Amino acid sequence: MCGIVAYVGKKNCQNLLIEGIKRLEYRGYDSAGLATIHNGKIRIVRAVGRVANLEDKLESMGGLPGTVGLVHTRWATHGGVTEFNAHPHADDKVGIAVVHNGIIENYATIKTLLEEKGHKFSSQTDTEVLAMLIGELYEGDLESAVQAALREVTGAYAIAVICEKEPGVLVVARKGSPLMVGVGNGEYIVASDGAAIISHTSQAMMLDDYNVVKITADGFRTSTIHNVPVTHKVQQLELELDEIELGSFQHYMRKEIFEQPKALRNTFRGRFNAEEGKVILGGLADHAKELVKAKRIALLGQGTALHAAMIGRYLFEDLAKIPATSEFASEFRYRNPIIEENTVAIAVSQSGETADTLAALHEAKDRGALALGVINVVGSTMARETDAGVYLRVGPEIGVASTKAFVGQVAVLTMIAMWFGRRRFMGANDTGSLLHQLNQIPDKIEKILGYDDLVKKVTERYIERENWLFLGRGYNYPTAMEGALKLKEISYIHAEGMPAAEMKHGPIALINEGMPAVFIANQGKQYEKVMSNIQEVRARGGHVIAVATEGDTAIKRYAEDVLYIPDVPECLSPLLAVVPLQMMAYHAAVLRGHDVDKPRNLAKSVTVE
Ligand code: G6P
Repeated sequence: MCGIVAYVGKKNCQNLLIEGIKRLEYRGYDSAGLATIHNGKIRIVRAVGRVANLEDKLESMGGLPGTVGLVHTRWATHGGVTEFNAHPHADDKVGIAVVHNGIIENYATIKTLLEEKGHKFSSQTDTEVLAMLIGELYEGDLESAVQAALREVTGAYAIAVICEKEPGVLVVARKGSPLMVGVGNGEYIVASDGAAIISHTSQAMMLDDYNVVKITADGFRTSTIHNVPVTHKVQQLELELDEIELGSFQHYMRKEIFEQPKALRNTFRGRFNAEEGKVILGGLADHAKELVKAKRIALLGQGTALHAAMIGRYLFEDLAKIPATSEFASEFRYRNPIIEENTVAIAVSQSGETADTLAALHEAKDRGALALGVINVVGSTMARETDAGVYLRVGPEIGVASTKAFVGQVAVLTMIAMWFGRRRFMGANDTGSLLHQLNQIPDKIEKILGYDDLVKKVTERYIERENWLFLGRGYNYPTAMEGALKLKEISYIHAEGMPAAEMKHGPIALINEGMPAVFIANQGKQYEKVMSNIQEVRARGGHVIAVATEGDTAIKRYAEDVLYIPDVPECLSPLLAVVPLQMMAYHAAVLRGHDVDKPRNLAKSVTVE
């Protein structure tokens, strides 16, 4: 949600900034802007739309020279998508430019005070207020002015600031939104994410909340907003350049769907002891004694991560026999949740930065829960703020529609549930055979990926339909939700996912001639019941697309189209059933001519509540 890259060093930085911000476009892409200082003057160029538009504009005007600069890609919060609202924003007094990711919650009050002092605003953004405030408080030292301004604001921010009066200085700060400082040779690259840094240096310093860093080409100083010095370790970025490149794929989403077998092999590597039927999760070891006493599990997430959390609930109850709940982190946070003794809260998140999930995590911790993270991004805010956790290890996910992170989350939750189960009542044989099955999931996903052409043909058949239903039961009710989410977020087709049983309580009224209803109808406890629901849809003219277990030929009598998945224990079936749904969504978006990796209005990492 908004991406930031900033540079200070010895070379002209425009190209480096553009290259970096393109890697962060997954964070937002409704407008972009760049500023540099050259000959003591700040020049700002902004454009509505993708970074490519900004690039064209810069090219047509001959570019912006300068060895200090910043760039931003926006996901609008305050104010519409216009050039005036695009970052960087400037003050009207000193010559300051600011880029910002987050929300300044008290911006309206500050704006009124600044207007009373005569400041004139040209945008509707909270960021312009921050730029003006820094300018207002400037007394010859940018670092102090930024610290003073940040003491006045509430909300979340990652910011980068430059000032004409101190042309070799870059000041950056964070609270709530991610920011790191890449440390190169005589140069520093600040970014929201390591993807914008890794082609220049693998050394970076992660900022903590309320940190302010003053950077010049010769070094940096970190302090708090109260000017208390802070020492930080420069660490190795755990990221490879080829992991964030598209390679021969047309879209990141397709690349990431096809990467799932490899990603899961990585998730599993070194974590199974099949002989003893044990799952080895180093990230839980320090808290093992407390964890085994868990009486309740609260799984928290948003979007796709919530769907994984919902599957987690079934897994914990089935495999570990621990009462579990899963819910929108945003709702948990504000509903006065009851946290009993020995409650473990699990934050499920790809990015580890989602503001709703982070806030819920804080709430759960404040109320005494032990906090675990099921997170992909190493060193992310949630990863640092949880007591223990298990990384997904699926590699960077760039497509806005989450795919490989979902299977990673479900796989890790399965492993954690088994970790608990084995310590409570599951014998080595039970866990051993399940581990064996889990280990084969990557190969089975590979097989499903081989049906890509068939999935495309099936999708083509229904591509004109504007309303779809996704239905499943038990473990695959959340999978149905995820299938619907995938379809709507990238193809803009209206889709609803729900428990198959719920359909007859209202949604059945929507079914008309030819309406596609995707059923997850794999073999399992509720197979017969799902068959009945399929009949109910057909009786009303709906067309059934069934995701069924290999060998189930009988289902062909009831479904217009069947997509097969290999047979696995029911608790592992979401890991397979979701794959054809991801492929369908992908093909639907491509067939409809949409930008698969940058769906309208969305951002991958949502760092506002
Ligand atoms: C956004 C993304 C979704 C993602 C959700 C949670 O809405 O568009 O794809 O599932 O945030 O993100 P997280 O990083 O916490 O998994």
